[in-house]
Amino acid sequence: MEKITLPKASVLTSPNPVTLVCTKKPDGTTNLATVSWWTYLSFNPGMIAYAMAKTSYSGEMVRQNKKVILTIPGEAIAKEVIGCGTSTGRTTDKIAKLGIAMQDLPDADIRVPLHSRVAIQCTLKEYHEAGDHYLYICNVDQVFGNENETAVFAWNGYGEIRPAK
Ligand SMILES: Cc1cc2nc3c(=O)[nH]c(=O)nc-3n(C[C@H](O)[C@H](O)[C@H](O)COP(=O)(O)O)c2cc1C
Repeated sequence: MEKITLPKASVLTSPNPVTLVCTKKPDGTTNLATVSWWTYLSFNPGMIAYAMAKTSYSGEMVRQNKKVILTIPGEAIAKEVIGCGTSTGRTTDKIAKLGIAMQDLPDADIRVPLHSRVAIQCTLKEYHEAGDHYLYICNVDQVFGNENETAVFAWNGYGEIRPAK
């Protein structure tokens, strides 16, 4: 084997998972941010975790509201997933700008994209500093799925969004 960097390793592990992290903004609307660094942590009780840059607006919102929904986007919004990962909700209404169709979930005041294969509704349990990111550890409240949507993944590291096959 040859010695490589961690970013290069993330290219070699592609396709990598991809989620849209959905949080509530102060005006009640939803912000969407693309996040590859997420994982299941525990099935019983249900727990997940994800890492976001300290500067992210989504991080600020989840630390404030303690509520977040992680969705696995469907193929129909592959292009929009890049858009949600290259602009910030601090200055942009991404849903309006990118024209993303949304839906409500029962008992949630955060909306999620209509084209979602999975939605994991969570409450923030704790967060920890991890280099230039915070690691958010969440309890899972409810989970929703739609087998008719095809999940997308991040290819070439994080440069391209498309299904696994
Ligand atoms: C494919 C892809 C994957 C990404 N994965 C992450 C990630 O795991 N963690 C992270 O902090 N940012 C990640 N980003 C970058 C964020 O989505 C980006 O910083 C975004 O502007 C944050 O939005 P916000 O400020 O509205 O929260 C990713 C971007 C793309 C395109």
